[in-house]
Amino acid sequence: MKKHTVSTLLNMKNKEKITSMTAYDYTSAKILDSVGIDMLLVGDSLGMVMQGQSDTLPVTVDEMIYHTKMVKRGISQAFLVVDLPFGSCDTVDDGVRNAVRIIKETGADAVKLESADEVILEIVRKLRLRGVNSIGHIGLQPQYVNTMGGYKINKYSDVERIKAEAIALEKAGAMMVVLEGMVSECAAEVTKAVSIPTIGIGAGVECDGQVLVFHDAFGLYSDMLPKFVKRYANLKEIVAAAATEYINEVKASTFPNDDYSYKSK
Ligand code: KIV
Repeated sequence: MKKHTVSTLLNMKNKEKITSMTAYDYTSAKILDSVGIDMLLVGDSLGMVMQGQSDTLPVTVDEMIYHTKMVKRGISQAFLVVDLPFGSCDTVDDGVRNAVRIIKETGADAVKLESADEVILEIVRKLRLRGVNSIGHIGLQPQYVNTMGGYKINKYSDVERIKAEAIALEKAGAMMVVLEGMVSECAAEVTKAVSIPTIGIGAGVECDGQVLVFHDAFGLYSDMLPKFVKRYANLKEIVAAAATEYINEVKASTFPNDDYSYKSK
């Protein structure tokens, strides 16, 4: 499979759905890449599913770089995107400096930024000028959990605002936009209003692609289960059953038997 680029992904709009999932380490990235996932996202959701934080806010740029370097080693064809974490885009200079540093140190293909306010739009413009691909993230923006007062789904009455944000991001030079947590009709209209691909999470089937958090999709994380998460596997139960068997066998001295031991003859 040939390595995805910004052009291959842009060309998929209205032709083929874009598949995306989060990855935070080499092993999971290698599995997803080998089955042909189009795009991998090192999401700041790693704060919750990898670090056990109650939200994404504590995640740092250094931590994003640490995880992205691991994911990059597992990829041969997927497009690699990294989140700019909370507090890394407070000014235009901060956003540009942090994005350039992430790309330089990890070899990722793009950065993703939440919101579409003037600072973010200016960062997107400057990054485009500096040769950095950026992806917008609007609708439910987890980095705004405190000001939203929880994780709130956007209603159809929000459609004009979200459409205007998506159009502004496209004009500023974003290559794609993630639409999170909104009624399907809203995401469908936004998708029609822009010529860049939309990637949905909790935004219905009309988006140009979909993204899910690895630990949600495969049943490893159960602290929170939003309606939009489909469990494609229940790895937590499988791992717990296997771990119980291992514990029992060690306690009973039936592991390691001769099959798993080195002998002098
Ligand atoms: O951090 C993340 O995993 C994300 C996805 C939910 C899109 O931003």
